[in-house]
Formats: sequence, structure tokens, C-alpha cells
Amino acid sequence: MNISNSDTSRILNDEQISLVQETFALVEPIADDAAILFYDRLFTLDPSLRPLFKEDLAGQKKALMATLKIAVKGLTNLATIESAVQQLGERHARLRRHARPLRHRRRSLAVDP
Ligand code: HEM
Repeated sequence: MNISNSDTSRILNDEQISLVQETFALVEPIADDAAILFYDRLFTLDPSLRPLFKEDLAGQKKALMATLKIAVKGLTNLATIESAVQQLGERHARLRRHARPLRHRRRSLAVDP
């Protein structure tokens, strides 16, 4: 699927894009705290997801916020982020397929993944 720039306006209008970009700019200075809130919330909603991630979330938090930054910047030009977002989605879909056996394995081994 190809997203042309004209499609952008159908998904989010200029005002909505500005709101997302302006509010993300407020979050950026506290990116590490924001990432902690994100993963705290994720693992509260579904504690069984925790074993899918490394014990030390430092790298994961950085990857999350760096990815969000690129995505938020790309809202004004979706074509620039289309393939990266698609690949990320495909990797997450694969993670989902492997999630169940992986969770059981990591739990039963009780090791740092
Ligand atoms: C805005 C939402 C999200 C973004 C931007 C995001 C981004 C990322 C990035 C950049 C990575 C690093 C590896 C890679 O590039 O493939 C990653 C890994 C991962 N993500 Fe996400 N993610 C998001 C939401 C989620 C959610 C909701 C889940 C679970 C339900 C999840 C589960 C995972 C898992 C299990 C890994 C692999 C961790 C590891 O191997 O240590 N992600 N994610």
C-alpha cells in the first residue's frame, strides 16, 4: 500500500497534526519518564507481556521514544515514514505470533531474556 501526501489530510487534518506535534514537543524533555509511564501502563493492562521484554528496559525505552519522534515528525509527510511504520508493524505482528510460546519458555526458565 502506498500513501500519498494527499492521503495525509484524510487521516488527520492540519489542526490535529499540529496538536499531536505540539503536545509531543512537551513530552520530549521528559522522554524517559514518558516511556516509563508507557511500559508501566502496558504491563498493568497485561502483566503477561512483561516477559517478552528484557529485564532492563533502557534500550527499549529509547527505541520507543525515538520511533515515536520520527512518526510524529512524519505526520506532515506520511510517505517519508510509510515503509518504516509498515516494517515495525510487521515485526510486531511476528512478535505477537511468537508471544505465547516465548512467554511460557521465559517464565519456565525464569531467566533474563
Ligand atoms: C506506539 C506504540 C509502539 C511503538 C512505537 C513500538 C516500537 C518498538 C520498537 C522501536 C521496538 C524495537 C525493536 C524493533 O524495532 O522491532 C519494539 C520492540 C518490541 N515491542 Fe513495541 N512498540 C509499540 C507498542 C508495543 C506494544 C503495545 C507491545 C505489546 C503489546 C509491543 C511489544 C514489543 C515487543 C515484545 C518488542 C521486542 C522486545 C525485545 O525483543 O526485547 N510494542 N517496539
